[in-house]
Amino acid sequence: MHDRAGLIDLAARLPKAELHLHLEGTLEPEMLLRLAERNGVAIPYSSAQEARRAYDFGNLQDFLDLYYAGASVLLTREDFAELTAAYLRRAAADGVVHVEPFFDPQTHTSRGVAFETALGGIVDALRAGERELGISWRLIMCFLRDLPADDAMATLEEALPHREVITAVGLDSAEVGHPPEKFAAVFERALAEGFLAVAHAGEEGTADDVRRTLDVLGVSRIDHGVRALDDPALVARLVAERVPLTVCPLSNVRLRVVDTAARHNLRRMLEAGIVATVNSDDPAYFGGYLLDNFAAVIEALDLTEEHVVALARNSIEASFLAEEARAAHLAAIDELAGSRAPVRR
Ligand code: ADE
Ligand code: ZN
Repeated sequence: MHDRAGLIDLAARLPKAELHLHLEGTLEPEMLLRLAERNGVAIPYSSAQEARRAYDFGNLQDFLDLYYAGASVLLTREDFAELTAAYLRRAAADGVVHVEPFFDPQTHTSRGVAFETALGGIVDALRAGERELGISWRLIMCFLRDLPADDAMATLEEALPHREVITAVGLDSAEVGHPPEKFAAVFERALAEGFLAVAHAGEEGTADDVRRTLDVLGVSRIDHGVRALDDPALVARLVAERVPLTVCPLSNVRLRVVDTAARHNLRRMLEAGIVATVNSDDPAYFGGYLLDNFAAVIEALDLTEEHVVALARNSIEASFLAEEARAAHLAAIDELAGSRAPVRR
């Protein structure tokens, strides 16, 4: 048996994968100010405290406006490498052994930053992180769903020469008004070209958006998916098909997707048998990295050791790692957990 501090310590020690993390969302105010100065980019803050004070969001769009403005300080390959390296150091400190981060190429190409500049810096840092910190990785390129589908298709074409370093495509930004059907042809082409696919759904959208995202886009996982629990038939499908949900508790609280952490449905997801995982989404904006998210739900939802072990196991199961690496991480989790007890249903 563990008390809460013991459970947070267990969560820190268990090998974990982080599967829902926007690299642009790891831009801490200190780095934002430093890069703004270095690159001569004007920003509306004169101190990190001032920037943090502005991070108060009423909804997803409020956040996205600040997030895209913040990304404007990223100009050079070195900038993208520094951003990614700083995230990897934080992830390593939280016991993360594998990452599948997102990047949003259109946020950068629309400002005149070359696709290869952003991608090159990110991959430089991911490779260094693998060598120096032992963190394995798969990279996911997200399309911005509030831009036209033609722009997403052009971005997919830019990615074709880089299939060795981009494993999957994703879909993010404003969900309401931009249904999965808008991107059906883009995802069909991406899958035909050998990419895997994930997509944000059921964050501000509905359970039906989650269902249609599965049917129309051919995704392997759903990012967020918290609204899925409104529909029992969909829950049964997620359980039967073992479709993972990459849940981001602190993000959901800060973007008012849930009222409070205590009202989050993550524990219900686990107890329903859903392959739910914990992730940090945009940690520089939402007040915490992976372990902060674990600590928040351990406390607010009174999670048990079984839940914490299930979350670590789910993160590995839900990853795009090859079977051998998955088996090795799962064996390490079982050894640390000292039991194979599944979550009681
Ligand atoms: N881009 C970055 N974070 C996001 C989120 N939580 N939802 C949609 N788009 C995003
Ligand atoms: Zn996200």
